[in-house]
Parts: sequence; C-alpha cells; structure tokens
Amino acid sequence: MKATALAHPNIALVKYWGKRDEALILPHQSSLSLTLAPMSVSTTVEFGAVSSDQVEINGHTAKGSERERVLRVLDVVRSETGGRLGPARMVSRGDFPAAAGLASSAAGFAALAVAARAAAGLPAEPKAASILARLGSGSACRSVQGGICEWRRGERADGADSYAVQRFEAGHWPELRMVVAIVNRDEKEVKSRDGMKHTVDTSPYYPAWVKDAEAEVPRAVEIIQRKDLQALGELAERNAWRMHATSLGAQPPLCYLHANTLGLIEHLREQRKKGTPVWFTLDAGPNPVLLTDAAHEVAAEALARACGAVDVVRCVPGGDAVLKSEHLF
Ligand code: DP6
Repeated sequence: MKATALAHPNIALVKYWGKRDEALILPHQSSLSLTLAPMSVSTTVEFGAVSSDQVEINGHTAKGSERERVLRVLDVVRSETGGRLGPARMVSRGDFPAAAGLASSAAGFAALAVAARAAAGLPAEPKAASILARLGSGSACRSVQGGICEWRRGERADGADSYAVQRFEAGHWPELRMVVAIVNRDEKEVKSRDGMKHTVDTSPYYPAWVKDAEAEVPRAVEIIQRKDLQALGELAERNAWRMHATSLGAQPPLCYLHANTLGLIEHLREQRKKGTPVWFTLDAGPNPVLLTDAAHEVAAEALARACGAVDVVRCVPGGDAVLKSEHLF
C-alpha cells in the first residue's frame, strides 16, 4: 500500500501550447521533449494509513488548486481499484536547485502517477502512468519515460489515446546537452495553464500554430534519429518563436520575453556565426534553455553568464521514472 517513485523534468523541443479539453488536459497538438537529468522529484504514496487525505510538497502542506490536482490523480487510482484503498498520504520532494528555472510539476506528477499506481498494486505500465500523470499537468505525461518522448494528441474525447511514448532512449544521443540560463528569477506573471488558454481563446494565429507544431513532430524525430544537432537546434528555435508569436498575437498580448532574454538570444546568434554550435528553446517564461553538445556545454555556460545569467544549470538526457525502495516517510 506504500510506494515511492523518482522522475525527472523535461524540456519540450516541440511545445505543447493549448488544450482542446480543459478538464481532461487534452492538447490541440502533439509535442516532443527531452527528459532531463540530474534534477528529479521523489514522491511517496501510501493508501489506507491515515484518516483523511494528506498532501505535502517540499515540506509544506499543499492547499487549494495544488492539493486538488494531486487528489484528482489519487481519485482516479482509487476509482480504478474499486474504491477499496481509503485515504492517502502523499509526500513529495524535489532536488531542484531553487534557481533551476524549470517547473517541477512535470517531474512531480510523473513521480506521483508511478508511485500511486504501484501503491495501489496496479501493474507498471508506462501508457497508463502517462495518462494518469497528464491529468495532473499535461507536460508531466512526457516525464514518465526517459530520453525523447512524444505526446500524441490523440483523437478520442475520453483521452484514452492521449499519452506520451518514448521515441528514443536516453542512451541514443548521450552527447546532447541542455543548459538552462536563468536571466530572471521572478515568478512569472501568467502561468502556462492560463497563458495557453488565453492564447487559444483570443489569438488569431492559434490555428496556424496547431497545424505547424503537429507537422514539426515527425521532422524532429527524423532529425534526432540521425543526431543532426544543427537541424534540431533550428527546429527547436523556430518552434519556440512560433509558440511565443501565437501568444504575442493574443488580446491582450502575452509576452514572456524580457530584454535580457533577447540580449542572450542575440549574443547566441553571434557566437554561432563564430562557430559555436548552440541554439535555444524557451518555455512560457524569460529563461532560455540552450541546446548544444557535450564538447560545447562549457562554452554555452560561459555565453549565458556573459549575458548576465544569474544562474546556469547543465543537464544531460535523463532516464525513466523509477520505483525506489527508500520511502519519504
Ligand atoms: C510552455 O504542462 O505546465 O512548458 O497542462 O496546464 O499543467 P498544464 O500546463 P503545463 O504546460 C507546459 C507548457 C510549456 C510547453 C511544454 O512543456 O510542452
């Protein structure tokens, strides 16, 4: 009745931006990401040992929507097992440096899904765990497995065909590097969940985004198959620009870019002209994530720091979410 799982965050190379179903978290388009080590979140779930649900995240008792999102995932597991499990205790802890600039929710919900299923005695199935993680946060469905994962949008109204599949193991391209450049530590003003809804609802560019992003996924897979860093860098950059472009087209406009984000991007372009193979991607925030290879990660870090990055986190391809024998309580 008790299990613990560890999962890594991921960064999308083809972004997920916009839901066709808010409640089930079903996307308008497919997306593709790289799972990132070494950062991770560990989560322990135990059913039946407490009198009411308890949710603790990074040392504090979760409240409001944070708690509701966790309970939603636990409720699905409880109903799948016929309601015999009882109240749950859940404790989750991330080892993200405070300045990592990466959302821990993807790793957190992936670890929760894997741990909750194991604690309920359900078999270890990446597909079922991915669907469960998706109900907590869309991007979490891509953190159940390592390497490169593709979240297929699916067609069904119940979401049974909307989950992530692993396209390449972490070992396929071990030299690939992601360098997170923190240019601004402030909490973002508009969360991804609200920003994407606002974009879907008001941006006239949104349909073009959906069509383009869907078509980029198989291109990205083909590029990763032949390990072409330049082609992948170019694809990741244009996809990030197009996600931000569709948001800039919303009413009122949604701009996640800061002056120093653009400064870093400009400098990166100059360095590339001089021969450093480095590209960027950008989530719904001001901090670019640089894409390069092992031979150039030191140069990528130096480039970020030269542009005023207050912190830099170097990441390598990460593995699957795994069960652990040490529990958090
Ligand atoms: C820009 O997965 O955090 O990082 O499904 O509403 O929880 P919810 O959103 P979330 O959004 C991630 C958006 C993104 C792009 C990506 O990771 O694909």
